[in-house]
Amino acid sequence: MPPQRALGVAVVGTGKMGADHVRRLHDVISGAQVTAVVDIEAERAKTLADAIDGCTAYTDAAAAMAAHDVDAVLIASPGPAHEAALREALGRDLPVLCEKPLTPDSASALRVLEAEQRLGHRRIQVGFMRRYDPEYMKLKRLLDGGELGRALMVHHRHRNLAMPPWFTEEMLISDSVAHEVDATRWLLDQEITAVTVHKPAPSSYAPAGMRDPQFVLFETRSGALVDVEIFGHCGYGYQVHAEAVCERGTVRIGDEHGPRLSADGRWGGRITPDYVERFEDAYDREIQSWVDATRRGGTTGPSTWDGYAAAAVCEAGVLSQREGRRVEIDLIDRPSLYG
Ligand code: NAI
Repeated sequence: MPPQRALGVAVVGTGKMGADHVRRLHDVISGAQVTAVVDIEAERAKTLADAIDGCTAYTDAAAAMAAHDVDAVLIASPGPAHEAALREALGRDLPVLCEKPLTPDSASALRVLEAEQRLGHRRIQVGFMRRYDPEYMKLKRLLDGGELGRALMVHHRHRNLAMPPWFTEEMLISDSVAHEVDATRWLLDQEITAVTVHKPAPSSYAPAGMRDPQFVLFETRSGALVDVEIFGHCGYGYQVHAEAVCERGTVRIGDEHGPRLSADGRWGGRITPDYVERFEDAYDREIQSWVDATRRGGTTGPSTWDGYAAAAVCEAGVLSQREGRRVEIDLIDRPSLYG
């Protein structure tokens, strides 16, 4: 692709995240153009394509990837559909931004990892966008700088207003805690070696059949302990906090910021309703960084290895959730392609 031309992007899956990424690529990101949208629901894709000059609607990802004006692919279909789209893109050596999860389980993630290795170079960035959130980036810099000493523990809190009706108890781990899995591996720069899921007495507002909230404990290779409170139906807003406890100090991020109102003898502020608003900046930086790297001919950000490791930890987490025991994680050796 000539560097002066905008990157032609096919967005596969145009639901909540995909439609937001189409808007982002069209209105916010520089150097990219949405040239294709793909959805198995033809009407949804057509409505989006009709609003963008030079954009074609497809119902089949492979057909979009074969189009002459598609240089790169952003996958935002549900997790179980990712493997087929990823393998199609790798088969055509197309750069990919794949929303998390890479794939829903470690066996399919491993197949994608092997396909990328056969290609011989990285082509996939996984959509773990917290790595692009300004507060998480500051926390990472502080931990890497070393002035606080080693991180001994991390406390994560991940609260959602409510989950959609199809959201299952397993998804509390595989869909939600997946973000803390990646954040932990990235912040501490090491693998998670074991996971235990505890379930307190459920909230009376939890949907029938779902134990909500849950408390997840990770053990890491260096012996750090990391806990995650995951609350799917807290009922008041979307909150993501993290606090690292180090040898010489603690760092906490995610406390509400933004206008703090004082009036009528009270002070307070607003809690964001969902991730689209809370992590808007992070998604913007993530996609811009992908477009920039891709136009330079490179690949950046969370890799297929990160996607595989996260899938393996989540799989162990779901097993622990089901069987009520500590589960160890056994990763393959990290291939040289992933440093
Ligand atoms: P959604 O259900 O709102 O949208 C999915 C869309 O994909 C639907 O329009 C559906 O018709 C379409 N679709 C299904 N199978 C397809 C296929 N084979 N080919 C093309 N289109 C297909 O789902 P949502 O919430 O937008 O999630 C999409 C992805 O984004 C998932 O992987 C999810 O885990 C991830 N996600 C990431 C978040 C983040 O913070 N990074 C937040 C929420 C979701």
